[in-house]
Amino acid sequence: MKRSTVKSGVSQYEMGETVSRNAYIVGVGHCVPDGVITNADLEKIVDTSDEWIVTRTGIRERRKVGEGEASSDLVVKAVENALEMAGMEAGDVQGIIVGTVTPDYPFPSTAALVADRIGMGKIPAYDFEAGCSAFIYGLIQAKAFVESGIMDRIVVAGVDCLTKITNWTDRSSCILFGDGAGAVVISSRGPGGRLGGWHWGADGSLGEHLIQPAGGSRHPASHETVDENLHTIRMDGSRIFKHAVRAMRDSCMKALEIDGTEKKDVDLLISHQANLRIIDATARALELKPEQVYINIQKYGNTSAASIPIALDEALREGIIKESSTVVVAAFGAGLTWGGMILHW
Ligand code: UT7
Repeated sequence: MKRSTVKSGVSQYEMGETVSRNAYIVGVGHCVPDGVITNADLEKIVDTSDEWIVTRTGIRERRKVGEGEASSDLVVKAVENALEMAGMEAGDVQGIIVGTVTPDYPFPSTAALVADRIGMGKIPAYDFEAGCSAFIYGLIQAKAFVESGIMDRIVVAGVDCLTKITNWTDRSSCILFGDGAGAVVISSRGPGGRLGGWHWGADGSLGEHLIQPAGGSRHPASHETVDENLHTIRMDGSRIFKHAVRAMRDSCMKALEIDGTEKKDVDLLISHQANLRIIDATARALELKPEQVYINIQKYGNTSAASIPIALDEALREGIIKESSTVVVAAFGAGLTWGGMILHW
């Protein structure tokens, strides 16, 4: 097998060659804004209580960006932290993809803005949308790019500033969401967390149960859409809850099966941090002990596309993920979407 490197640094393979390549997470970073909203703060604006929120969700506080802050501001810091861990410069990266439902603008993409701000050069950069499952979708895309030889080093980021589209009069949803960003550098060269078996899916027939109704081509922004508060999140919480429990369990099981890993060999679950009860149900399905489940929902709430990379970064920096750890990551979200992947350190 002969490998040549073109000027851009992208690996190319001669026709007809087969090659076995792996993709590794070699750097992780995150960023959450400074603003904090506690449950006590929410008690002042909707009919709720700290006791209800903690019991039903596990959340104690969440972060909120300031007026002038946007998703790209968080992603820039998350990517810089991930590059630092990877020991790379911005110019070493060959592509960046950002999963988000709250880009800075409908266009241009947040990814392109971030690439420019960090000085990544004129690399391919695009956003994609898969709700809270976006980070898993991003890992799968990055794995495909790296293993096929299209790129050697790519950044995947997940970011959302859901507090910008929260309906602050809806007690069943406004208590859940927080803002944040997380990013990973994926490389064809380890050491790091090898991206293993995965599973993903979507069911648009359930899409209306978690939706931002206006601002797209169906209901473009107008005085009426603003008056009717249609630019904020509409969610049927209990329906999403039931679907989430099933989707997370199935994604984990299928990813394990595809990876050839047994439940007993899993060291850690990093689940999308949407609701403590959903995380617990997934952990039970995997027969994990409490110490094998990473939880930070109490600090950040549901940060959507950012929740898994934030947790991954914390777990790595806290030394919970060690060499030879087998980690399951799994998520579900708007679409509805879901996905899971096995990571081998
Ligand atoms: O990342 C994907 C995004 N979405 C999700 O992950 C959402 C998944 N769903 C959930 O996390 C849960 O369904 C919620 C936390 C949203 C709601 O919890 P639940 O246990 O499913 O409650 P429920 O909707 O069945 O409501 C139970 C009761 C209702 O009162 P009644 O009708 O029994 O009198 C609600 O009105 O709780 C009431 N309620 C509240 N009470 C105090 C709903 N929200 C609140 C609140 N404070 N914030």
